Amino acid sequence: MAPFSLMSVGANLLVKSLSLFSSASVVRCSCVAPVIKSFSTTTGGPPKRPLTAYMTYVKEMQPTFSRQNPGLKNVDVIRKLAEKWRMLTLEQKQPFQDASLVSREQYKLALETYKAQLTPAQTAAIAEEKRQRVAKRKAIRRKKELNSLGKPKRPRSAFNIFMAEHFEEAKGTTMQAKLKSLRDDWMRFNNTQKQIYTQLAEDDKVRYKNEIKSWEEHMIEIGREDLVRRKERRAIKAKTVHDRKKKSKVTVMKAKAPKKKAIVAGTAVKKTVKSTKK
Ligand SMILES: *[C@@H]1O[C@H](CO)[C@@H](O)[C@H](O)[C@H]1NC(C)=O
Repeated sequence: MAPFSLMSVGANLLVKSLSLFSSASVVRCSCVAPVIKSFSTTTGGPPKRPLTAYMTYVKEMQPTFSRQNPGLKNVDVIRKLAEKWRMLTLEQKQPFQDASLVSREQYKLALETYKAQLTPAQTAAIAEEKRQRVAKRKAIRRKKELNSLGKPKRPRSAFNIFMAEHFEEAKGTTMQAKLKSLRDDWMRFNNTQKQIYTQLAEDDKVRYKNEIKSWEEHMIEIGREDLVRRKERRAIKAKTVHDRKKKSKVTVMKAKAPKKKAIVAGTAVKKTVKSTKK
């Protein structure tokens, strides 16, 4: 069985996507509708996604089940229905599968109709929104991955360090106001006043250079060359190939030596040879 939290997330999603209950929580949820929906309100909106067999089942059973179990929370109603659904035989599920198939066909048609009536500008805007969503998701995934691989933080600029140090006491109440006053201060600074921060930034550059070097070497070791800067990739590769060649020469030489020994040992005169050699 799925862990409790996962189950309730699923149930909440279902409550949302089926608009089963008209409780405050559902109303609140609707304000985080995807961008694409807010855009398309002007055109009547894209068709609703088709219901799966399970969703069809829940939608059909929920009103009666809720009535029979007053006091049960929405999420728990869904959870109970999910349990019931799992207990159904394939045969019992069949009508809902059929309904889902019909729903999917209807959706396909409705989507085609919807797409056909969009202006080229709207189509382009929707495609752009989608592209941005995908890119954002990808960037988040990449950032998470780099974090988990312990990628060193980029070096901070002198202004960055100054800002971080003086943000608290900066003039202004809003974040923007504080940033602006800090930027103005920075612009007024002469080189002597900036000196301490430029020095710290130089140090941070050295820190980054060292950290990123060993990190990239490690990435190549574990087969993640794709995460290494292109220029470095070539340099590190050349170096490892060179090292490997050196290493393989050594092993060839080492491999030859015991062979000789083995032959010698095979002739059973090992001891004599050894002693004469010494
Ligand atoms: C930089 O500014 C500080 C503080 O205003 C001042 O004491 C110092 O003489 C200035 N240095 C130069 C090189 O202008």
